[in-house]
Amino acid sequence: LPIFVLNGPNLNTLGTRKPEIYGHTTLADVEANVRVKASEFGLDVVFEQSNYEGQIVEWIQRARTEACGIVINPAALTHYSIAVHDALEMCEIPIVEVHISNVHQRESFRHVSFVSPQATAVIAGAGVLGYELGVQVVANELNKTSS
Ligand code: DQA
Repeated sequence: LPIFVLNGPNLNTLGTRKPEIYGHTTLADVEANVRVKASEFGLDVVFEQSNYEGQIVEWIQRARTEACGIVINPAALTHYSIAVHDALEMCEIPIVEVHISNVHQRESFRHVSFVSPQATAVIAGAGVLGYELGVQVVANELNKTSS
């Protein structure tokens, strides 16, 4: 099964959005890098982005039976979405929460995560490298369960 890499609101603007915080890499660049990293582990990738909470929820629901793991940057949904929380709660596969920026260094409303309680691992502040690290964590978790 492929790994699902899911991106929440505003991440389609990566590259031009607050580059001092999020860098100059585009989401298309992130996707290309993630595909290379995943292929090193023999994993296929389904890479998605939506500005709509319900769409993210539907991809998470699909991941329950169609994915080996989830790498998710829920973006602003992190900080308030009980729907994303509940969807992730139903998944029995590795989940890695990724934030490009170090959310703990920023406004206090970014210090709260409704996603972290469901996450196998949380990566924040590593820049877009966090996505590749997330893929590596999922691969590592899958090895643990198969050996
Ligand atoms: C983000 C951090 C969130 O607080 C913010 O709403 C985002 C991006 C990050 O990748 O650093 O949209 O998830």
